[in-house]
Amino acid sequence: MSHAPAVPVLTIDGPSGSGKGTVSALVAERLGWRLLDSGALYRAVGYAAGAEGLDLSDVEAVTRCAQGTKIQFRAASGGETRVIVNGHDATDELRTETAGAAASAIASMPSVREALVALQLGFRRAPGLVADGRDMGTVIFPDAAHKVFLTASAAERAKRRYKQLKEKGLNVTLGGLQREIEARDSRDASRAVAPLKPAEDAVLVDTTGMGIDEVVAKVLAVAQS
Ligand code: DC
Repeated sequence: MSHAPAVPVLTIDGPSGSGKGTVSALVAERLGWRLLDSGALYRAVGYAAGAEGLDLSDVEAVTRCAQGTKIQFRAASGGETRVIVNGHDATDELRTETAGAAASAIASMPSVREALVALQLGFRRAPGLVADGRDMGTVIFPDAAHKVFLTASAAERAKRRYKQLKEKGLNVTLGGLQREIEARDSRDASRAVAPLKPAEDAVLVDTTGMGIDEVVAKVLAVAQS
């Protein structure tokens, strides 16, 4: 039996603040490929669980929530993507540090990760997919032809987050952000399932001191190699 050629996937994994989100969106646009923001799925489940008043350490309840939460991505004007959780536009709430911390906590539960697998695989459609996350190249799309792992120093990542959040008028401190980023990194990297680590066949790109255009060019070169 002959198989149709697999839809190409470019995975972009790395810690928060490495520039993954911005770079993935720009690269997907340049390639004309679809985009999977897998972090938004974990954020959406954390948000939905919070909205239901669940205890975020209750694995059974949070797993049921992950199985039952309806998550939709909707294109808005100006190329922006809105995230709709159970019919509510939760885009702004999902960007907060609180949502990130909740996402990181529930993402350590294997049954929650399992509940999100099919949804993620469904994004793989022609002409191609850019998959942004922590375990895209290691667990979800291990057969991806192109894999990138983006990093940057914790100090640089804290600076970038600080700038983004300040622009949104949020009240944050640089030191506090760096501590939160380091705590989240170590939780994401040390968890038993799908820890944050580069796939063996990933190209490592350290974005410390690099501008967005330079990073996009490097990642596009990997996708076209
Ligand atoms: O990329 P992000 O900051 O939106 O991700 C939020 C959290 O979700 C992050 O701390 C870890 C978790 N996550 C994950 O475990 N696996 C993914 N593929 C994406 C995110």
